[in-house]
This record gives sequence, structure tokens and C-alpha cells, in this order.
Amino acid sequence: MSDEHGFITNSIHAGESEEASATPIYQAATVGGGYLRGGNPTLDAFEEKMRTLEGGVRSISTACGMAAVSQTMMTLVRTGGRVVCHHTVYIWTKLFMTEELPGLGVDVQMIDMRDTRQVQAALTKKTDVVYFEPLANPTLDTIDAPTVIRIAHEAGARVVIDNTYLTPYLFHPLEHGADVVLHSATKYLCGHGDALAGIITTQDEALGQDIVRTRNTYGGILSPMNAFLLLRGIKTLPMRMDRHCMNAQAVAEFLESHPKVNRTYYPGLSSSPGHEIARAQWRGYGGMVSFETADESVITRFFERVDLCKPWVSLGDVGSLVVHQGGGNRIRMSVGLEDTDDIIRDLEQALA
Ligand SMILES: Cc1ncc(COP(=O)(O)O)c(C=O)c1O
Repeated sequence: MSDEHGFITNSIHAGESEEASATPIYQAATVGGGYLRGGNPTLDAFEEKMRTLEGGVRSISTACGMAAVSQTMMTLVRTGGRVVCHHTVYIWTKLFMTEELPGLGVDVQMIDMRDTRQVQAALTKKTDVVYFEPLANPTLDTIDAPTVIRIAHEAGARVVIDNTYLTPYLFHPLEHGADVVLHSATKYLCGHGDALAGIITTQDEALGQDIVRTRNTYGGILSPMNAFLLLRGIKTLPMRMDRHCMNAQAVAEFLESHPKVNRTYYPGLSSSPGHEIARAQWRGYGGMVSFETADESVITRFFERVDLCKPWVSLGDVGSLVVHQGGGNRIRMSVGLEDTDDIIRDLEQALA
């Protein structure tokens, strides 16, 4: 499949078998003499689909998103080097940065990248990696990726972006010069809450090969069955993302005007501090919304009464999910694909 087709066409066809309506699952430890930890035809198909969608040179699939984060970082960091990271990232990524890397002699600086002067100030000649999520989990901080990438490159650092919340349908970090884009493919790419997976894409073949070598060493390989589920899920990624965005906008506007909600976070709201960056740089504002209720009792009742929206972790599934975000009266919602009115009615009765 050619890189010249449109995004939706590539979501459906890129990487897929030319002979069957679904790419076969090579459920085998070796195929043609090659060992699964080094790759497999079903994994190759998933990687080729993602390479095409990201506009990259090499994609490497992994067992889950954390395998993508850790194996990328273990490829790029050195003892005595520095990593500069936005201060809110996915919690296990934050623990990897602040508790694993320092033990290896890496100096890790957690800063607020919404203020690009902080990025400038944190960069030194020793900086190997600048790391962030353009739409950050769980705060929904919005980061000006093209500016941070430019500043990082001027200082000679590589930029790694976790684009899980936006997906390649809404934002293309490699187009803006990022060196690596990675995802928890468990979320929107899979879309159906039935597989864990990760994917890493680079602009540089040599770096891609280095990451494959790390994966061979550390062993965070994807299973062929999960690669199959990812291939299936991604075929509808653009259609799902359009609807996630539409439902999330409606939910955010409902919450913003609700008397028991003190504050609503969604980059699609014109009141959001990240709205201008998001509007200028992304195709849509994504499916993640969070909100603060007036007090703790509202939260307790909300989780007792909520029915259609499930109180489960994870995100990016077809169904709506809500979780109590650590610290304070904040609820994070992954807005699903249900009828918009049904989602809002469920929130309304749970907040009543
Ligand atoms: C932004 C982000 N990155 C990485 C991960 C880790 O992915 P996984 O759970 O697939 O290991 C998550 C999981 O929630 C996430 O939200």
C-alpha cells in the first residue's frame, strides 16, 4: 500500500494481506526460521500499517505501551546523560523517569513544558531526550509540540512523543520533526478494550534497528493474536476518532454549564488554556474530558449512581469510562461512541 493514499484508505488497507480479507494470525514461535521475539508476519503487518499512518521510516510493535516507553528510553539514554520530561505524563511513565532512570545515573528534570522558557533552561549539552505527551495524561495539559521540538533540536537532543491521547489521526508528531512517536496501542488504536499493545515509530532506520535490538534484549514483544486485533481495530480509527471528538465536545459543554461542576478540562472548550494550540495544530480535540466537582460527596454519589459510563480504568474504548483521578475532586472521563444523549443523561442523573 502506497504512502500516497489518504489516511482513511491507509487505515483500512496499509500493511494488510493481498490475499485474504483479514491478515492471518501466525500463532507460531518461529516462521520461516525467524524467531517471534525478533518479529513475525502478523506483527510486520501491524507495524507496516502504523508506519504508513505515522509517515515514518520504521515501526516497532511492543507488548504494551509501557514496553514502548521503557524500550525506547533504554535505547536512547546513557549514564551521565540527561532527560527532560513534562511533569505530568502517564503515571507509570513518570515512575520510570523519576525512579528507574536516576538509578542508572541519568539526570532527569521534570518541568512544565507549557512554558517553553523552562524547556530552554533545562537543556544542556548532556541532554539525550526531551519527552512529553502533547495532550497529557491525566491533566490534559496541552503542549506546543513544534516549538518544543525546535528548541530541543537546537540543543542537540532527541524528542520522544507519547501521542496516545491524540492518535496519528489527530496529530502527526513526525511531520513536525519528532524523532520518535510512540503509543499505548491498548487505547484508541485498538479501540475495543480487548488487547494490550504498544507501537514505536521513528524517522531514522538506524534508530529503528537499535530499538528492535533493545526489544530483542528486553523481550517486550507483542503477541500475534494482539497484532491481529490491532489490525482490525485500526481499520475504523478515523471514524471512531471523529465520533469520540464529537461526543467529548458535547459532554464538555454539558459539564461546563453544570452547577455541581467547578471546572471542566477539555482542549475543545474555548475557555481551555490549551485551546489555541490545539485548534492550530490538531485535527480534533480528542475524546478525553476531565472535571472537578464542588465537593467529595458529589464524587461518592457519582460513582454509586453512574450506570452506562463504567467506572473502569483504561481509555479509548468504544464505551464511556470514568475514573476518580488521584488527588482532589477530579473525575477523568474517556468519552465513548454511544448516543450522545444517552451519555449526557447518565452523567446528569449521576450528578443530580
Ligand atoms: C499516555 C499513556 N502512555 C502509556 C501508557 C501505558 O500503556 P499500557 O497500559 O498499554 O502499557 C498509558 C496507559 O494508560 C497511557 O495512558
